[in-house]
Amino acid sequence: MDKIEDLVSHNLPKHLAIIMDGNGRWAKQKGKLRVFGHEHGVKTVRSTVENCVQIGIEYLTLYTFSTENWNRPKLEIQTLMRLLVSSLKKELKTFNKNNVRLNTIGNISALPEKAYKELLEVMDKTKDNTGMTLTLALSYGSREELQSAVRAIAVKVKNNIISAENIDETIINNHLYTHNLPDVDLLIRTSGEHRISNFLLWQIAYAELYFIDVFWPDFSDQHLVKAIKNYQNRERRFGKTSEQLI
Ligand code: IPE
Ligand code: IPE
Ligand code: MG
Repeated sequence: MDKIEDLVSHNLPKHLAIIMDGNGRWAKQKGKLRVFGHEHGVKTVRSTVENCVQIGIEYLTLYTFSTENWNRPKLEIQTLMRLLVSSLKKELKTFNKNNVRLNTIGNISALPEKAYKELLEVMDKTKDNTGMTLTLALSYGSREELQSAVRAIAVKVKNNIISAENIDETIINNHLYTHNLPDVDLLIRTSGEHRISNFLLWQIAYAELYFIDVFWPDFSDQHLVKAIKNYQNRERRFGKTSEQLI
């Protein structure tokens, strides 16, 4: 059995990102409404955050609501937003206890006002925490992120703040929502789907990908440890040869 205590602490992913998928199918399998799956998904978020703190992950980024998810039925969107607000209210204490700083990426001003305000409040009340940075991707889409970065850079070029010749990877990085986060080391997707669904396209350029055939509400500490162990056994070559890495 894979236990958190057995994990070796060297070579941990510094930045772990998760596409939390499969709430709806989990519920359907049990003959319940999708909402039931989302409610249980929240419990998995809670335990995963605590497990990552215990393991010593520095950055955890969770795909919580995509730009494309706005196309879901209105009632489902309302439920997801209600769950977001109630969890934030509940978790503030735990974040502070665990020294977790809350961060967001995405167009959060598109969220309902209640959710937007709650997020700002929890981010403000956890801003001095120095442990794990928990980033929620909300109303997040990678293409939208890149589009607004290009736009912002173009405006700066027009206003002679930067010159076109000087645009490099660092400048692009600095204009992304993730400017204060390192690149993703390990990306996990649950539910058995093998796709990225518009998540962190730029930031996963050299991430290790891990797909697991378990619906998000069933994702446990054992699954997490197994994924990290798998990551620790991979050789990340970044274009070099094996021999060059020794
Ligand atoms: C993930 O589960 C949660 C969100 C995308 C908000 P889904 O709701 O996508 O569940 P499935 O993939 O339909 O089973
Ligand atoms: C990706 O899941 C988005 C989140 C987990 C928030 P989806 O369920 O929306 O992805 P697709 O549509 O199946 O690719
Ligand atoms: Mg899904």
